Amino acid sequence: MNILGIESSCDETSAAIVNDRKEILANIVLSQLEEHRAFGGVVPEIAARAHADHMDTIIRAALSDAGITMSDIDAVASTSGPGLIGGLIVGMMAGKALAASRGLPFIAVNHLEGHALTPRLTDNIEFPYLLLLVSGGHTQILVAEGVGKYKRWGTTLDDAAGECFDKCGKMMGLPYPAGPEIQRIARECKDPKAALKRFGLPKPMKGRKELDFSFSGLKTAVRLSVEALPEGDLKREDVADLSCALQLTIADVIKDRARRALERYLDEYKPANPTLVLSGGVSANTAIRESLEELCSSHGVRAYAPPLKLCGDNAAMIAWAGLERFKLGLTDPLDSKPMPRWPLDPKAEKRHGAGVKA
Ligand code: KG4
Ligand code: ZN
Repeated sequence: MNILGIESSCDETSAAIVNDRKEILANIVLSQLEEHRAFGGVVPEIAARAHADHMDTIIRAALSDAGITMSDIDAVASTSGPGLIGGLIVGMMAGKALAASRGLPFIAVNHLEGHALTPRLTDNIEFPYLLLLVSGGHTQILVAEGVGKYKRWGTTLDDAAGECFDKCGKMMGLPYPAGPEIQRIARECKDPKAALKRFGLPKPMKGRKELDFSFSGLKTAVRLSVEALPEGDLKREDVADLSCALQLTIADVIKDRARRALERYLDEYKPANPTLVLSGGVSANTAIRESLEELCSSHGVRAYAPPLKLCGDNAAMIAWAGLERFKLGLTDPLDSKPMPRWPLDPKAEKRHGAGVKA
């Protein structure tokens, strides 16, 4: 069984083909980074136009990479939310048009479910697992209980962790997306402990019982730190120290939230094979990965992060989520609508300010 997956919810145009033997036959990802870089973030209108410009070429390239044609495809899955409305429309229209013209089933995939189910594509991870989804748009703690069954235990009340990296990096003069730049320059910091002490950044939500995150105060603290540095061009060693302090602070907050969630997960689910999965673009960060691995090993829990190229946005995860749903008979009508806001756990307690992030 071959599923064609289409992803266009943010700034990556992607098409992939995945089969039921967990083989990724193709996964073409076209990043729009260069088109957005000058603006220091993703511009929705530019993103939508770029998706429309490239979608057909990318789908054709995926079929050609896989060495198959549309007649070998059994179902089409498109990201249908959450995300930027223009991009979602482009990806859904492409998927629906192909499904309609070929008489194939269509599957409307939640982008977050794509991230959530990736570890079942790349490894044999069993439900229920604890999932830390940390990207540019989301920072959530969930329990994946089954396909379409998620419990959201925590979310960010304001910015996502990746957004915090990006905006703080921008204040330090680093290019977008600043997460990887911050990690790179932080390696130049000679004394991480001294850097942490020097800037004294706050650790929002650390120690709180509820499992939410907040990063906007940290962003403000970084702005004040930058303003307190000598006027003019920032010195490279100052940027390295501040980047290191910021990265360690974010890793520490995430570890604290994850520790509480892990203890609750072990207690409530008593899973046979306890697993914590880290996914989303920010999971590329080594400081965060290492601190979570440490946490898991001290609790006898398996830590798992999908390969980096499948942590960021891509259509293989959409094709796979589509395949898991298709196998359960979960297909969608051709008039299903894009959903810019689409929480994985619609019953999750509302958090002030967090609704926008789904
Ligand atoms: O999941 P993703 O590719 O896109 C979505 O936001 O859905 O995540 C992109 C985010 C950006 O904010 C980027 O700065 C961050 O992931 N990121 C990192 C690293 N690599 C990517 N943040 C910190 N350290 C990294 N090494
Ligand atoms: Zn994503």
